[in-house]
Amino acid sequence: MNRTNRARLDIRSVDEITGSRRLRRMRKADWSRRLVQENRLSVDDLIWPIFLTEGEGREEPIAAMPGIFRYSVDLLPKQAERAARLGIPAIATFPNIDMAKRDTTGSAILDPDNLINRATRAIKEAVPEIGVITDVALDPFTDHGHDGILRDGIILNDETVEQIAEAAVLQAAAGADIIAPSDMMDGRVGAIRDALDAAGFQHVAIMSYATKFASAFYGPYREAVGTGGLLKGDKKTYYIDPANTDEALRETEQDLSEGADMVMVKPGLPYLDIVRRIKDTFAVPTFAYQVSGEYAMIKAAAANGWIDGESAMMESLTAFKRAGCDGVLTYFAPQAAERLRS
Ligand code: PBG
Repeated sequence: MNRTNRARLDIRSVDEITGSRRLRRMRKADWSRRLVQENRLSVDDLIWPIFLTEGEGREEPIAAMPGIFRYSVDLLPKQAERAARLGIPAIATFPNIDMAKRDTTGSAILDPDNLINRATRAIKEAVPEIGVITDVALDPFTDHGHDGILRDGIILNDETVEQIAEAAVLQAAAGADIIAPSDMMDGRVGAIRDALDAAGFQHVAIMSYATKFASAFYGPYREAVGTGGLLKGDKKTYYIDPANTDEALRETEQDLSEGADMVMVKPGLPYLDIVRRIKDTFAVPTFAYQVSGEYAMIKAAAANGWIDGESAMMESLTAFKRAGCDGVLTYFAPQAAERLRS
């Protein structure tokens, strides 16, 4: 708009309006933008969730997660070496076990040689310096896809807690550095802490999925671990209502009081307000899980040419840092690490 138009519209000059403050000054060049950048993503912030499958020499693509595969145990060392080379601090494992091994109580979680425990041993043997985070929940082991023991239509809390505490000890014995309960049963963090300590695993940490929401964004994960077709009903009786934030704080406080060393918010991007409240309230190591559906959305839009996938990936990961995350579980971990190193 030229001077004459402005006069006609009776608008003050921009310097009068802003009091001569011009926020664009620092945005004018790459060097000044870098200088004032407040949050920076680094490879040290990345945790790589990987899917496991039985058998040998298997690298199975997951349709709803382009670029992501399930790996058989023999192929894990190569993936762990790749992660270590990129500087990724830790891997989180998620098993897709044989359907024949799944039952109503998820009993295969108590097999010391189950897929998740064999995977931990293989990774630790090949790359001892990388952190291994094992998810402890019944859903990949049950024939109904729920995270707990199902009886008469009810997910039994206390029986489930006992079983996952026992499973956590087996995971620690296999070499897991961090146990990550993702089931949302009440009291599981305290029970796992007690069980680990009693078994001499005082040094094994707990990252609790403190605030896990009953979300629609887990769809592709359920395909990846084979629970999608199995799940009867929904998980609303144990995951948090996506409408709630005070409840998320109470869950976090509870898990911390029971002994959680780190807490996680899941899903990620739609729940950054929860991350910020947790970080501001408790000042503890806080993580978020950029879940399968979030990954799929970015990949799908990028594949259609609707967004620039690489930029959206980096922007979304930076948003986690801005919200207060110390780190992010993301399927983009290797790709983001490569990008950060180049
Ligand atoms: C369940 C579990 C879920 C995910 C990991 N462990 C959710 C679910 O199936 O209900 C989701 C991970 C993702 O979507 O990337 N214990």
